[in-house]
Amino acid sequence: EARFRASVGAAPRISHDARRTAERAAHASGAAFRNAVDSDPALDDVRAWALGALGADPGAPSSPVLHTTADVDAVVERAGALGAAWGAVPAPERAAVLEAAADALERRRGDLVTSMAHEGGKTVAEADPEVSEAVDFARYYAASARALDATAAASAADGEPIRYVPVAVTLVTPPWNFPVAIPAGGVLAALAAGSAVVAKPAHAVPRCLEIAADAVREALTAHGHPADLVQVVRTDEGGVGRHLVGHGGVDQVILTGAIETARMFAGWRSAHPGGPRLFAETSGKNSLIVTPSADYDLAVADVVRSAFGHAGQKCSAASLLILVGSVGSSARFRAQLVDAVRSLRVGAPTDPGTGMGPVIEPPEGKLLRALTALEPGETWLVEPAELDADAPWTGRLWRPGVRDGVAPGSFFHLTECFGPVLGIMRASSLEQAIAWQNQVRFGLTGGIHSLDDGEIEQWLDAVEVGNAYVNRHITGAIVQRQPFGGWKDSAVGPGAKAGGPHYVAQLGRWEADPAEH
Ligand code: ALA
Repeated sequence: EARFRASVGAAPRISHDARRTAERAAHASGAAFRNAVDSDPALDDVRAWALGALGADPGAPSSPVLHTTADVDAVVERAGALGAAWGAVPAPERAAVLEAAADALERRRGDLVTSMAHEGGKTVAEADPEVSEAVDFARYYAASARALDATAAASAADGEPIRYVPVAVTLVTPPWNFPVAIPAGGVLAALAAGSAVVAKPAHAVPRCLEIAADAVREALTAHGHPADLVQVVRTDEGGVGRHLVGHGGVDQVILTGAIETARMFAGWRSAHPGGPRLFAETSGKNSLIVTPSADYDLAVADVVRSAFGHAGQKCSAASLLILVGSVGSSARFRAQLVDAVRSLRVGAPTDPGTGMGPVIEPPEGKLLRALTALEPGETWLVEPAELDADAPWTGRLWRPGVRDGVAPGSFFHLTECFGPVLGIMRASSLEQAIAWQNQVRFGLTGGIHSLDDGEIEQWLDAVEVGNAYVNRHITGAIVQRQPFGGWKDSAVGPGAKAGGPHYVAQLGRWEADPAEH
């Protein structure tokens, strides 16, 4: 229990022993779920179809746009009525719907990959496992729904019976960078918890969510439940969206987005009759440490994958590489890193040979600064460059950059820039590296590459992140095996980790069960 509370920003710090135990258990547990589908031959035909379909247009968005507060009221009212009935459906039946949704999502793999490429600029290599993650969420949260009954039964056996009471309406507001897996996770968890869902896609990627929601709705109707248990809506900017987020009929909000958005949502919901009930996963400024004992080949591959997957636009991405001691002066390490970064083939996501695709929009603000300006003492190990590109990629294709000599406390050390730039810091000791890693206000992901058990123990004891990875890339958490979520400024509100054992249970209310007394 302690380790899940530890992903909450304001919660007490997780105990070292609990964290070590958790990390070991995660590594030892084996993967019942398969975020990486490379070894599944049954999917080869689906993948081939997706590749063939990449030239296809994913179609125009079809979900309604809510223009007025009255439009919002109608959607929330419908969700409230449907949610009340859905909450009375036994948990095993809800679980069966989610299992059917897993199959339906699998059948839509090609459409989902295509829409992610066109709308979100995702490469096939990034988009394909994202569909698998959505499928994994469906199966895992089905099991979580069944576990609700088991928890209640166990409490009765313990003599302190509690019962689970669903809430009626959950609003899911996902980000643009994981336009299928994150909204699917929110929608499926809410359904598992017995709640109706209103889902609002990020502006740039509506088709991704609409197609995923269609798959879930197909499963609902196949089991005789109303498709509108999942309503996908878009809003005009401004007051209408605010009315939806703060609506008295919306029991809770699942948000993945910037910390500033989460704080704004919390403010909008502060006077809500049921309390804010905001579950927000937010920003990160994540680093990977490499010590002299590391396997350099493995470390370089994981650094490049973590820093430049989806052009660095993941909350989990590595933005800092902290080299300890002699790694910082190793010509071999430097040469391998430079070669690996330069070898990334940058291009359109609809070209299956592309290694790194576009950023979501032409860079501005912090990202433009990170791509174009050095701070005092910094040099370019690999200088980023904008590439010529036709629409819609104009201004969005950038060769990745590596800035060397990032100083503690500097702009690049402490600021989330969200793009294809990696900064290198050189630490004299592991203690110093960990201190710099923890100096950022966020605490989402972090990694260490080391083959020294003592170093790994030291790091696990001290690192302040929700997802701590040892000798592995730091993106692409796998459902069940690596429940995902941060602490410090990487989370707002209570929040068990997504894809972990308490995620669904927290989306309803637990109360003493008088019927059992
Ligand atoms: N869950 C996503 C990852 O781990 C954000 O990369």
